[in-house]
Amino acid sequence: MKPISSSWLVNALCLTAQFGSALQLDVSSPDSIRSTASVVAYDLMSYYTGNRTGDVPGNLPAPYYWWEAGAMFGEMIEYWYYTGDTTYNDEVKAALLHQVGDDKDYMPRNQSKSLGNDDQVFWAFSAMSAAELKFEDPGAGQPSWLALAQAVFNEQASRWDAGTCGGGLRWQIFTFNAGYDYKNAVSNGGFFQLAARLARYTQNETYVDWADKMWEWYAGTPLLEIDTWQVNDGSSTQKNCSDASQLQWTYNYGVFIAGNAYLYNYTGDAKYMDRIDGLLNATLARFFPQNMGGVMVEVTCEPLGNCNNDQPAFKAFLTRWLAVTAQLVPELYERIFTYLRKSAAGAAGQCSGGELGRHCGREWNTTTWDGRSGVGEQMSALAVIQAMMMDTTDLAAPVGATTGGTSQGNPSAGTGTSGTTGSNGMPAVNRDKITTGDKAGAGILTAIALLLTIVTGGSLVLE
Ligand SMILES: *[C@@H]1O[C@H](CO)[C@@H](O)[C@H](O)[C@H]1NC(C)=O
Ligand SMILES: *[C@@H]1O[C@H](CO)[C@@H](O)[C@H](O)[C@H]1NC(C)=O
Ligand SMILES: *[C@@H]1O[C@H](CO)[C@@H](O)[C@H](O)[C@H]1NC(C)=O
Ligand SMILES: *[C@@H]1O[C@H](CO)[C@@H](O)[C@H](O)[C@H]1NC(C)=O
Ligand SMILES: *[C@@H]1O[C@H](CO)[C@@H](O)[C@H](O)[C@H]1NC(C)=O
Ligand SMILES: *[C@@H]1O[C@H](CO)[C@@H](O)[C@H](O)[C@H]1NC(C)=O
Ligand SMILES: *[C@@H]1O[C@H](CO)[C@@H](O)[C@H](O)[C@H]1NC(C)=O
Repeated sequence: MKPISSSWLVNALCLTAQFGSALQLDVSSPDSIRSTASVVAYDLMSYYTGNRTGDVPGNLPAPYYWWEAGAMFGEMIEYWYYTGDTTYNDEVKAALLHQVGDDKDYMPRNQSKSLGNDDQVFWAFSAMSAAELKFEDPGAGQPSWLALAQAVFNEQASRWDAGTCGGGLRWQIFTFNAGYDYKNAVSNGGFFQLAARLARYTQNETYVDWADKMWEWYAGTPLLEIDTWQVNDGSSTQKNCSDASQLQWTYNYGVFIAGNAYLYNYTGDAKYMDRIDGLLNATLARFFPQNMGGVMVEVTCEPLGNCNNDQPAFKAFLTRWLAVTAQLVPELYERIFTYLRKSAAGAAGQCSGGELGRHCGREWNTTTWDGRSGVGEQMSALAVIQAMMMDTTDLAAPVGATTGGTSQGNPSAGTGTSGTTGSNGMPAVNRDKITTGDKAGAGILTAIALLLTIVTGGSLVLE
């Protein structure tokens, strides 16, 4: 654990002690936002053990999957960007570089069993944020942030699967993982957003073409109900995507809204604005219910109290992606921040749990802690609290190569690697690398997949 060094943190702790319950947040005061965010960030990073002697940089302890660690470090880059606090920068950088894997593509071999396209893209998002927000470059002998994102893009583009459902990406990369037969929102939306961000950063039109190809495919399947802008969770290749799981998740909307915002900001093409407008209305109506205070709610699990280990983090992504959308599409700023301000006040107002009396729960509509705590709860609260810095200070928008970005790209990163799909639709070299132990594990996962397919009628959710 880190020594308490930041003066913001000390101030905030005094404030907490003074008032005795929940974190005090004045959403119109940068000092208040910084000090509250520093407490929440400190408690978030207290879950991270990878910086301890003998532990592995970049991993979170069980029950948190590898993807969530990648997403957490991206959020900590944003923490630095929003607040200017450099306390965690060195360990965040070390973590993001330790997990790049042999081919510098965020596919470390020992994570194969929890490595779907969505898992990989969350690490790529963090690398992309590092490039866009001008986080310290990795330095000589290391892959650049931009090249890491490009490697993930190139590998995922090679996985485009026209053999089922007319196109798109499967959820899983490896056939032995449960969910190989599922094409889902966050994997396909993840690729879409990554392509959009690469387009804006590099001004290479090939990325726009890929983003457009992905959107057109997605919108042409039951995964998107375009008349109501409903984003469905996923669809089974076994049914050729003839229907979709209608489960509703915040981040599935956010991933597409922000992707379109990057494209609109880069191209100025009105078609992207139409999509943002429609998706944003659907998001605000669905996930900020007026009868629950108009704050963000993960409606599919939060009211039932049955969110799994992944789901409490999803509100962090919708928050970040709405905030960046407000920045890139200024005419939407007030419409978005009206909701984020309320959510930030709500989130801080219920951070009164745990031993220290300040851990954050899930339900932002109440002033009492709901008894839940964890990495996801902490991430979601931090995201919405720190986003208030955008509302109260002048923050530069994400940069690109011609607007101050310094990350040196490599358009062919990731090509010719084992993460690239061979002719039979499976990463060619990794097939040979699967060990006996992996096969045993894979058998169990396949059995679970079959069971789930039977129980849910083919609808799997990320877990
Ligand atoms: C742990 O984090 C601190 C602060 O960011 C950093 O100075 C140190 O190098 C890190 N240690 C390791 C082993 O990464
Ligand atoms: C996994 O691989 C990384 C290198 O990519 C290594 O540092 C680590 O020790 C391995 N084991 C675990 C449990 O992460
Ligand atoms: C699967 O769906 C795609 C896209 O709708 C269609 O082009 C293709 O013919 C379908 N394949 C089968 C076997 O029905
Ligand atoms: C979305 O909401 C805005 C503001 O209420 C409204 O002007 C716009 O027409 C709506 N767009 C759609 C597609 O419903
Ligand atoms: C907040 O939302 C939860 C469900 O997520 C609900 O049970 C509770 O009654 C709500 N509280 C208030 C004060 O509206
Ligand atoms: C793109 O974002 C920048 C930064 O916020 C903004 O100044 C600019 O107006 C945006 N461009 C478009 C076309 O919306
Ligand atoms: C643009 O991106 C594509 C796809 O990665 C790549 O093949 C091409 O070389 C890039 N072009 C330039 C000028 O960098």
